[in-house]
Amino acid sequence: MKFTRDDFPEDFLFGAATAAYQIEGHAFGGAGSTHWDSFAATPGNVIRAEDGARACDHYHRYEEDLDILKDGGFDAYRFSTSWARVLPEGRGTPNQEGLDFYDRLVDACLERGLKPFQTLYHWEMPSALADLGGWTNPDVADWFADYTEVIQSRIGDRVQAVATINEPWCVAFLSHFLGHHAPGLRDIRATARAMHHVTKAHGRAMSRLRQMGQQNCGIVLNFDHTSPADDSPEAIAASDLLDGINNRWFIQAISKGTYPEVVLKGFGDHMPKGWEDDMAEISQPMDWLGVNYYTRHFAAPDPTIPWPSVKAVEGDLDRTQMGWEIYPEGLKDFLTRMSQEYVGDMPIYVTENGMAWADEVENGAVYDPERMDFMERHILAAKDAIAEGANVKGFFYWSLLDNYEWAFGYEKRFGMVHVDFDSLKRTPKASYQALKSVLTG
Ligand code: NOJ
Repeated sequence: MKFTRDDFPEDFLFGAATAAYQIEGHAFGGAGSTHWDSFAATPGNVIRAEDGARACDHYHRYEEDLDILKDGGFDAYRFSTSWARVLPEGRGTPNQEGLDFYDRLVDACLERGLKPFQTLYHWEMPSALADLGGWTNPDVADWFADYTEVIQSRIGDRVQAVATINEPWCVAFLSHFLGHHAPGLRDIRATARAMHHVTKAHGRAMSRLRQMGQQNCGIVLNFDHTSPADDSPEAIAASDLLDGINNRWFIQAISKGTYPEVVLKGFGDHMPKGWEDDMAEISQPMDWLGVNYYTRHFAAPDPTIPWPSVKAVEGDLDRTQMGWEIYPEGLKDFLTRMSQEYVGDMPIYVTENGMAWADEVENGAVYDPERMDFMERHILAAKDAIAEGANVKGFFYWSLLDNYEWAFGYEKRFGMVHVDFDSLKRTPKASYQALKSVLTG
């Protein structure tokens, strides 16, 4: 790898990220059912109808997994706490076993010198609340804040940082408009509501975290580099709208207390009544911003779609196993754009960046030079952003382990550690070894 720790500020953290439903094994330890269980059980939604019932069995193997991070010389571990593991019905009586698990997990991080970065919501809505409309119900903000209080009362004293929501665009747009993730809706009204309620839930949880004296609170947003497919005014407008939906809606709400007009116009009367009154709470100060970045798209007009009349057009760069173009410059662009246009000097973490590849174990090892190259180029892009003034404080590779890649099931391997989903054996890949030699060197 063409970098060393010395190329980064002294307090820069190298870590890896995961999420509860993707690795823990949701069938264990008294967790309640979630909308991902029912979405996955419905034919056509997930490849082979795979779900997170067993996943990587991290629930029982978390010590082995954290040992791998520690041995690799990593500084931090980003994980999520599952709402339905903590509160099986979403509200009401907590599941002690679930609270005990997160208590052990956080202590196990600290014992290994790993800073715990917690995310409160990484996509598994408890079924009991999904039955009430989930993200389309305005009460979701209070339900979420109440859950926040239950879990933080148990582990908030020991976590290094807390994010409210992971990738609200996926929670709202991908799941309620495009229908690719649970609950699998394709409905503009549900989308407008979810797009607002998810920011409202962020604001309400932030208020609760502040009341509880929680330090170092933020949010994790996903960004997709978007530019016009050509220089026609129509393509420029298409790109602006797509960028508004994918990249500006959440950061503008959170940092400036407004939504992009061009998107609001599309949602029209479907926005929940009185949404303007929530904007002050939504835009209260945060301590840090998480940036998840994977790829880029070009935008072009598509008059066959009523709204938004745009389509994403692919470019010609090399692609990952997901079919996503590899474009590290996009990461640098977003980091500098965030700092210059939205958050100023607030610390920014790359909370996710990584690639899937069809990795195979051969003679007990996994050789993944494509991933080494991907990591190196993106970590160097973060370094370039720092040189241009962005206050980037860390980089988390997605993901520590091969895991449940949502609608793609277990087929797409993002891990720097290979998981055999029959034996559950972990095999650190060559990319892990390469990072390890930088971090421990
Ligand atoms: C972002 C999501 O946060 C994570 O859950 C997912 O696995 C990765 N992207 C890769 O698609």
